[in-house]
Parts: sequence; C-alpha cells; structure tokens
Amino acid sequence: MRIAPSILSADFADLARAVAGVASEADTLHVDVMDGHFVPNLTIGPPVVKALRAHTDLYLDCHLMVTNPADLLAGFTRAGANGCTVHVELGDTAALVAEVRGHGLDVGLALSPDTPFDAAAPFLDQVDLLLLMTVFPGFGGQAFMEEVLPKVAAARAEVDRRALDVAIQVDGGIDAHTGAAAAAAGADVFVAGTAIFGADDPRAAARELRAAVSAAAGVPS
Ligand code: DX5
Ligand code: ZN
Repeated sequence: MRIAPSILSADFADLARAVAGVASEADTLHVDVMDGHFVPNLTIGPPVVKALRAHTDLYLDCHLMVTNPADLLAGFTRAGANGCTVHVELGDTAALVAEVRGHGLDVGLALSPDTPFDAAAPFLDQVDLLLLMTVFPGFGGQAFMEEVLPKVAAARAEVDRRALDVAIQVDGGIDAHTGAAAAAAGADVFVAGTAIFGADDPRAAARELRAAVSAAAGVPS
C-alpha cells in the first residue's frame, strides 16, 4: 500500500514546507502536470520538479495530463522525475510508453474514467504503473466516481492472472472512505490531494488514509 500525496492541493508558494510536512507518511509524491489543452487547467512543469528535487528525496511521480508528453520527457528527466505517467487516450501508446522508458523513467499508463480497461491491457507488460482515474482529469477536489471500481477489480484480476509487477494507482476524490473501497477492489497506490493537503494536519490525514486502505486490503499498515 503506497500513499501518494498530490501537490496539486498544496500551497504552491510554499511547496517545500508542504512536502516536508507529509514526507514521513508519503511513499511517493504525485505531481499533476496540466497543459491547458489536454485538460482545461494549467499547472506546473519541469522547473517546479527541479525545484522540488532540491528539497526532497521522495520519488517524484509525474502525471502528465498534456497533449504532447513526448516533448516534455527530456525536461522531466533532467529535472529529477522518477516516473512519468501518460494517458492512453492520446493514442500511439506503444511508442509513447517506449519513449518514457527510453528516458530511463518508470512508466505509468493512465485511463480516464470513461476509458475501458481493454485500452490498457495490451501494454500492461510494458509499464510499471496503471493509473485508473476516479475523477475526470483536470482539477483537484472532485467527487470520487465509484463506477470506476469494477475497472480497478478487472485490472487487479488481470495483473494477478499474468503475474505482472504493475502497481494499480487510483487518483481523484480519494480519502479514507473511498480509498478503502478502492483498496478492497485491488488498488495499491493511493493519490490524495484534498484529503491530505486540505486537512488541518496533512501528516495525520496521510496516516489515516494508510490505515484505512491497509485495513481494507487486509495488510498491516
Ligand atoms: C486530477 C489529478 C489528481 C488530483 C486529485 O486531475 O490527477 O491527482 O490532484 O486531487 P483530489 O485528491 O483532491 O481529488
Ligand atoms: Zn493526478
């Protein structure tokens, strides 16, 4: 069970402090990159990842919600990203996945809520992480879509059936309650923005999320 605080909901003017505050309860740090084109919101890019890298040793998991991720991979690599996740909806997935790998990055493949699991199945043996969005990408603070849970279960069944080493990440509206439902369905990486950075005590919120998802999955926290 891995907890991935999403800095999208942190104070962008005080990121180093926000990250330091949750670091002891975070397994990775989720960095939402939006280009104002693939999604109607504009956030951050390699310069901010580079700045973060100087302040933390945490694994930097970059979720690229952009139309042309290939153009940015060199920049994210140089900046110190550990993994980049690209969306299957862009098409040309085999080439894109190979390009991420070619930069020496861990590879994630993301599915928006209305994209079926079948779109990702052919690439599962080429990726490290499958990101199943539980909100439509673009903004933090949206409500968890429980209709995605069967897709989480289908992904877990297929990953286990093929004995693949692929993490199943859920992202969007995750808190202790919805995270537990996703954990019961088979997710093992939990992105949370609002539930962590919107809490009075972000570290305690991350700890509470870890306890909830671990209990739901029947593993020690
Ligand atoms: C949404 C992003 C999410 C977002 C989650 O497009 O991919 O990572 O930060 O935020 P919460 O946890 O607030 O739904
Ligand atoms: Zn994300």
